[in-house]
Amino acid sequence: MFCVAIDGPAAAGKGTISRAVAQHFGFAHLDTGLLYRAVGAETMEGVPAVKAALALVPGDLNNPDLRGPEVAQAASKVAVIAEVRAALVDFQRAFARRSGGAVMDGRDIGTVICPRAEAKLFVTASAEMRARRRFQELAAKGLANSLEEVLADVKARDDRDMNRAEAPLRPADDAVLIDTSDLNIQEAVAVAIKAVTERGAV
Ligand code: C5P
Repeated sequence: MFCVAIDGPAAAGKGTISRAVAQHFGFAHLDTGLLYRAVGAETMEGVPAVKAALALVPGDLNNPDLRGPEVAQAASKVAVIAEVRAALVDFQRAFARRSGGAVMDGRDIGTVICPRAEAKLFVTASAEMRARRRFQELAAKGLANSLEEVLADVKARDDRDMNRAEAPLRPADDAVLIDTSDLNIQEAVAVAIKAVTERGAV
């Protein structure tokens, strides 16, 4: 059992780093943002947030429509609700304890979900850099309008995620900070793998 907790603001590179770390060590990966996105998507259809969170099943996470910017905003709105967060805890903790090792990325993995994770990383980058990267990613899928809109979206979510009462976005005291502003993907992944190796992963 080995849990790697990777937290940080929107579009800092957590997803790419998490997948690469999971692949390197042979661990399973859970993008916990998808849980909140799945609940947010349900609320866009009129389902009450807590009801949607309680009814969530793993298959709901496979929907490619969850990646869009409207769903991201809806996700960060349901993510402030304590009952929504509480409904998602057991699934996340069970995933963290799986025998083959787990990498989980989100906002509160190292602070709330897995405070005893063997390795914790906090991945950041400047808001402008994050917006530019997210814009390119969304534009490639035909999902983004303009860079300005993506920047506004990223800032609105950061603000909501950092200032909520319940499990706010912040680095755990024992997290390794990785600023990816001046790193390319390979460099960021190498820094992350080194940090996780130093915490004892093989
Ligand atoms: O990581 P992603 O951008 O997909 O997350 C969408 C939203 O879900 C975030 O803006 C945040 O509000 C919420 N979230 C959270 N806790 C997590 C993961 C995501 O509150 N562990």
